[in-house]
Amino acid sequence: MCGIIGYVGNKSAVPIILDGLKRLEYRGYDSAGIAVMNEQGFGVVKQKGRLASLEQLVNQQPIAGTIGIGHTRWATHGEPSDINSHPHLGSQNKIAIVHNGIIENYLQIKERLEQKGINFVSQTDSEVVAQLAEHYYDGGIVDTVVRTVNALEGSYALGIMCLDEPEKLIAVKKDNPLIIGVSDYGCFIASDVPAILPHTNKVYYLNDREIAVLTRSKVEFFNMDGEPIEKELEVVNWTLDSAEKGGYEHFMLKEIMEQPKILQDTIHSAIHGDNARIVESLDITKYNKIVITACGSAYNAGMVAKYVFERLCRVSVEVELASEFRYKDPIIDKNTLVILVSQSGETADTIAAMREAKRRGAVTLSIINVVGSTIAKETDYTIYTMAGPEIAVATTKAFSAQLVLLYILAIAFARKLGRISPEVEAKLLAEISAIPEKAAEILERVDMIQKYAATCIGCKSIFFIGRNIDYAISMEGSLKLKEISYIHSEAYAGGELKHGTISLIEDNTMVVAVSCCERLYEKIYSNVEQVISRGAKVLMIGSCIKASPHGKLQIIEIPRINELFSPSLSVIVLQLFAYYVAANKGLDIDKPRNLAKSVTVE
Ligand code: M6R
Repeated sequence: MCGIIGYVGNKSAVPIILDGLKRLEYRGYDSAGIAVMNEQGFGVVKQKGRLASLEQLVNQQPIAGTIGIGHTRWATHGEPSDINSHPHLGSQNKIAIVHNGIIENYLQIKERLEQKGINFVSQTDSEVVAQLAEHYYDGGIVDTVVRTVNALEGSYALGIMCLDEPEKLIAVKKDNPLIIGVSDYGCFIASDVPAILPHTNKVYYLNDREIAVLTRSKVEFFNMDGEPIEKELEVVNWTLDSAEKGGYEHFMLKEIMEQPKILQDTIHSAIHGDNARIVESLDITKYNKIVITACGSAYNAGMVAKYVFERLCRVSVEVELASEFRYKDPIIDKNTLVILVSQSGETADTIAAMREAKRRGAVTLSIINVVGSTIAKETDYTIYTMAGPEIAVATTKAFSAQLVLLYILAIAFARKLGRISPEVEAKLLAEISAIPEKAAEILERVDMIQKYAATCIGCKSIFFIGRNIDYAISMEGSLKLKEISYIHSEAYAGGELKHGTISLIEDNTMVVAVSCCERLYEKIYSNVEQVISRGAKVLMIGSCIKASPHGKLQIIEIPRINELFSPSLSVIVLQLFAYYVAANKGLDIDKPRNLAKSVTVE
């Protein structure tokens, strides 16, 4: 939540920062701002609203400098407004900051500083950082930053400039992401790699409570005692193309279309590459319980995985919402394997769940997309989805990559536990290897899905039903639809309808039924008939549908596959359905209202 970018070098900072903010806009987009530092002081332009309006404002009120910071906001404390937008300055205009995170003790600090006569202008928690740093500043910015962050409770990624040290851009973080990039024309700070990819792929990953001091030509690092530390420069293998729309109208559509390739890369890595080595090093026979914990779509991937693990490994698997996990006194110990699933590796609730699991002695394995992220660094084992940068707020390709990694993990565990023979393992892996090709087949049928979605834009509510693993993937279909189309939606296990939900079905209520479990076809079809006879219109998606379409029933066939892996195919139809419903409504698909890509606050 919130995106930070900063630059110091020999080029003009404003275009670099604006471009970086565009690439970070998926992290928050209710307001945005830039501050540059020059001989006259700070030039600040900031306002409520999307980045496009900030860009216009910068054109009307040009600011110049070769060092600057920028911010795109997802409001937590203080409504979206011009004054609450970042950057924030101390009242003597000596220090400017951008902040991502939450300062939990801001009211106490604010009160203390107000008693000393310091005037606050915003309602944000972030302003205290600028005011406090300015209050503490005594000629040494590193010492000032140490003192300041030592007084803060909560989480922060900060970009800081100080007028008395005009060559330096300072970065510091705790529990929120911040990376440092270096190029031959300057150095950068950013919340995420895509923001700086046009300039460099050489990065340092900042750890919690490490300080970076960037100048035009070098970066120095310090610990909280103000002592210099060494860090390793790493090369990121994401390309600039992978972080651009490439001719598509939305990132979401581009990311859906990329899935065959991403699936192939992820499957290859998990069967033959680095991921395979990590999976092999994990001795599953040591654990008597598996817990999967995650948020949102990653949680839904966990729900699908539960069916696969339990069927193949015959081990009971619990799936927990990460936001609930630490408050439920979880029953886990050193004999539990806790699997954390997260695209960003920075979701605050999932980080908290991971730390709770570690505190209780459990062994942790994470499935992550962003290399160098907090969860990737802190778990005992990490395997990576090879999805590349995912920009659309609604996850698609990262979710699909999580699914195939979870299947392959389940197969490896089943083999190690002696539940499947090498022949069965080989057969299952062959079926997984066929997923990318079958996914590509579905993507050839986009027109049909688009046409159907166009008929659903007036729906007030859309229900998703399925049984068994089809129910698990229906949850993802429902989440995808509601987050980008703003249509109310619920997923139900088909058999549950008659226990209450069916009272919501009336003339023309829309129901999407997923049907890939052949052995349960008759069961789900009878649920479909029950809703049709109460007036619903139904879209059935599946590989084993025996009924023929009619006025109230439409069918989208998907290729046949082992039912355990079918969510990888049905989800593509569900993603496209959600995408085209939202596209037909003319919505801002990549940046749905109130949401942000990486939820780094609780
Ligand atoms: O980065 P993470 O995978 O940890 O994010 C978890 C959820 O916030 C995320 O999946 C969210 O639900 C997506 N917007 C869904 O499309």
